[in-house]
Amino acid sequence: MANQDFPFIFERSKEGRTSYSLPDLDVPELDLETELDDMYIRKNAPELPEVSELDIMRHYTGLSNRNYGVDSGFYPLGSCTMKYNPKINEDVARLEGFSHIHPYQAPSTVQGAMEMLYDLQTSLKEITGMYEVSLQSAAGAHGEWTALMMIRSYHEANGDFGRTKVIVPDSAHGTNPASAAVAGFDAVTVRSNDQGLVDLEDLRRVVGSDTAALMLTNPNTLGLFETEIMEMAEIVHAAGGKLYYDGANLNAIMGYTRPGDMGFDAVHLNLHKTFTGPHGGGGPGSGPVGVSKELEPFLPKPVITKENDTFAFDNNRPQSIGRVKPYYGNFGINLRAYTYIRTMGAEGLKKVSEYAVLNANYMMRQLEKEYDLPYPQHCKHEFVLSGSKQKKLGVRTLDIAKRLLDFGYHPPTIYFPLNVEEGLMVEPTETESKETLDGFIDTMLTIADEVKNNPEIVQEAPHQTIVKRMDETTAARKPILRYTK
Ligand SMILES: Cc1ncc(COP(=O)(O)O)c(C=O)c1O
Repeated sequence: MANQDFPFIFERSKEGRTSYSLPDLDVPELDLETELDDMYIRKNAPELPEVSELDIMRHYTGLSNRNYGVDSGFYPLGSCTMKYNPKINEDVARLEGFSHIHPYQAPSTVQGAMEMLYDLQTSLKEITGMYEVSLQSAAGAHGEWTALMMIRSYHEANGDFGRTKVIVPDSAHGTNPASAAVAGFDAVTVRSNDQGLVDLEDLRRVVGSDTAALMLTNPNTLGLFETEIMEMAEIVHAAGGKLYYDGANLNAIMGYTRPGDMGFDAVHLNLHKTFTGPHGGGGPGSGPVGVSKELEPFLPKPVITKENDTFAFDNNRPQSIGRVKPYYGNFGINLRAYTYIRTMGAEGLKKVSEYAVLNANYMMRQLEKEYDLPYPQHCKHEFVLSGSKQKKLGVRTLDIAKRLLDFGYHPPTIYFPLNVEEGLMVEPTETESKETLDGFIDTMLTIADEVKNNPEIVQEAPHQTIVKRMDETTAARKPILRYTK
């Protein structure tokens, strides 16, 4: 089919073209030159593209067609929970009572929105088993940092200034040690044992009177449930430390177990993952933090309160770590998560975990026929293969990921967690059909076959995409973030 817009035309500006028509001026005209201080007046007109409405439509539609998202195909990006985002969430987020309000409005005029936030907090308390929840943090990493700041304040309020260390497993997501560092702690690594779980002996070795907290994901980033979690809680608590739960993997356990019941003192959730906020490309996110009763006084302020069916913002919280975000969190994502929880119900959320775990185990057992599986026990919602067998034939995991693009799939997460050589971390999620899972399995097995019989086709992939293999090192080290002609 002939398409004049193909290849994609990026530069469309033509002098004098416009795509707007402004209404007649109905307020007094202001002469900027006389009314404004000189420093506020531009010396040169901004260089903006001059385009017609059709040009703009084609520009953005063209870009979006090049994009890949959950709505375009299977996206098994481990640790990211790229599940389907139900469109009812969007319908609710567009209701005028939510979309036309302003955070500076008086609470008496936005009681419905405040009730929604309060109810969401209540649901998250129930789901996590925590005493109180704050919705302010805007992402998982932000939630980690918020909770660590609260843990720091808690220790300091007890006159305990020597707790300078946060223990992080070697399989942890990179945000864990990073958040610990930004919160002013030293991150200390605890090793995994040969089953991929935290090594209790090593934990006993690193824990001490300087331990502020242990950060843990359960199931961990290998998709394995930390079965000795109660012992770990005991070890850390006995030393006076706190237990922090990275809830990015909650999709595996919802309705079955709760971080609060496992002994955790603080958790963050990734609403944009588990609770279907559309995510990727850097946001928007929401990383609410749940805490135990002991940590509650340190929650970010304001806290939403309910008294006689009236909702208010409580700012009178002397021990609070303060505000961590303007206004009250990413309202739109919180609203979508609320809609998701209400539409799924308690039984529905339990089914989510069941299917997420079932799908992952089904796929893992098919793929272990051709790929190494360093931790062969049943997994939870995701699993990590190793491309070490393929590496011996000269094909790297990166090549396999690129080859998947030729078959129309978003690749799994690769080279993470760091304790798996040539790692391929696959998270199918619960929203995919058996046919989709089988299609991906067939493709991965086909690629394994290519590695043996025609390795060049994998090593040189992708062949079908508009942009071929990129120089990723230069792209990461010297990114060009701005379009220049
Ligand atoms: C295990 C784990 N922890 C924390 C995070 C950080 O979450 P966010 O990307 O929302 O900051 C992620 C994100 O991928 C994760 O997978």
